[in-house]
Amino acid sequence: MYAVEMLGITKRFGNVLANDNVHFCLEQGEIHALLGENGAGKTTLMRILYGLYKADAGEIFIDGKKVEITSPKQAIQAGIGMVTQHFTLVPTLTVAENIILGYHDKQTVSKTEIEAKVKAASEKYGIHVEPGALVRQLSVGERQRVEILKALYRNARILIMDEPTAVLVPQEVEVLFESLLRLVKSGLSVIFISHKLHEVMAVCDRITVLRDGHVTGTVSKAATTQQSLANMMVGRETFGVSRQSKRKTGKVIYTVKNLCACNSQGLPALNDCCFELHAGEILGVAGVSGNGQAELTQVLTGLVKPTKGSVKLDGTDLTNAEPHDITDAGVGRTPEDRHEGSIGTLTVAENLALEDLDKFIRHGMLDQSLIIENARKYIEEYQIKASPTDQLRKLSGGNMQKVILARALSRKPKVVIASQPTRGLDVGATEYVRNRLLAERDRGAGVLLVSEDLDEIIALSDRIAVIYEGCIKGIMPAAEATAEKLGMMMAGAC
Ligand SMILES: Nc1ncnc2c1ncn2[C@@H]1O[C@H](COP(=O)(O)OP(=O)(O)O)[C@@H](O)[C@H]1O
Ligand SMILES: [Mg+2]
Repeated sequence: MYAVEMLGITKRFGNVLANDNVHFCLEQGEIHALLGENGAGKTTLMRILYGLYKADAGEIFIDGKKVEITSPKQAIQAGIGMVTQHFTLVPTLTVAENIILGYHDKQTVSKTEIEAKVKAASEKYGIHVEPGALVRQLSVGERQRVEILKALYRNARILIMDEPTAVLVPQEVEVLFESLLRLVKSGLSVIFISHKLHEVMAVCDRITVLRDGHVTGTVSKAATTQQSLANMMVGRETFGVSRQSKRKTGKVIYTVKNLCACNSQGLPALNDCCFELHAGEILGVAGVSGNGQAELTQVLTGLVKPTKGSVKLDGTDLTNAEPHDITDAGVGRTPEDRHEGSIGTLTVAENLALEDLDKFIRHGMLDQSLIIENARKYIEEYQIKASPTDQLRKLSGGNMQKVILARALSRKPKVVIASQPTRGLDVGATEYVRNRLLAERDRGAGVLLVSEDLDEIIALSDRIAVIYEGCIKGIMPAAEATAEKLGMMMAGAC
């Protein structure tokens, strides 16, 4: 008898088929991975199981019994717990208070009793958090543990973890894996969502792969390899990027000194941030999400003014410059949010011309044929799947990113600021963008690669900086950087 059986699950959003006749079976006491690229339909399937979405078709069985789950409350009653990337904890309450919140409706429970219960669970499963600590004082990893304890407290026997490692540093990932193994030993069944092959191979018993909403297979770990899983995920072997190993980098062209800035809520986000970027190198900035990465790129591209510090390009002071002056001085950027760097209602050709309109003026008027001709050139060079007159918003994420790259790189910038350049892109587009950044470096540009994908940072960078609480905690040559070392720094340990 299976812990969970989902049969023939179909879910449509408009004309997107998010789940296409999906069969998914979770055995009692196993860790079962749901593996797939961004957009494959993993979260949708689990939101259906947890009662957050209603499937258009299909049946669900829990412990062999057919169920209709129409709300998370019913899911919890059926023994299902779900931990997502977006935590639902109240920062001003303690761990124990958060765990009981909304669970004991009528009876009041004593604080010591709860704290003792939480402590017992936390010891039993090796999930360590202090029951009396305030949630706002906890790290992201600790908060995740509270969410797990919360699910256990509600007697979950089936635990869904949606991309739990995305917010963790490598050491925390290890700790999480140990806890998951203890959970299944004591009889729980776990669904572990990921798009990282090595994680899935490290901790799961069986793996179900989703691609474009449908299952491409369910395999046991013992009977598969990372290569074969990659194949099931994307429909071909991944080829990755190739890079030269021994290269010489040039002189320092970009200097950032003691940069301070506030976030959109007016709280300090950058705190004495310093680094130098050389011509012909990729400097990767690694860090756990929310440590000042977004603010750093906003300040460097002129969208946010710093409260202190300086930014110099080749001797030119850009500290308080406006975005277009920064572009003119030779800084190209690919923004974190693709929609922020482009205008969806304009055409591909118009977006490609946007930052350089002077070039397209003839007799005092914008010359449409020049704009189209310019676009054709870049569409071909960057293999953009679109025509010049398509509205930008109709393009896929990958093609939109290529338009933005084409525009930024066509001016041959001295410095490229690439912020989360491959987030949400499919494998093909990711590979294209990464190779393009390597090509920029080889041309002699200095590339600042700000990314929350540690594998990407390690694969591309010549040197790696770690940002923690708005400050660069250290910079090292890529050859000396291990995931473990970077993880320590990302957690603020040194
Ligand atoms: N609430 C929603 N409304 C419209 N489309 C959605 C919604 N949720 C998911 N989708 C679409 O369904 C597809 C699958 O998404 P998702 O289940 O989030 O994938 P994954 O978790 O594997 O990254 C994507 O194309 C996504 O854009
Ligand atoms: Mg998802």
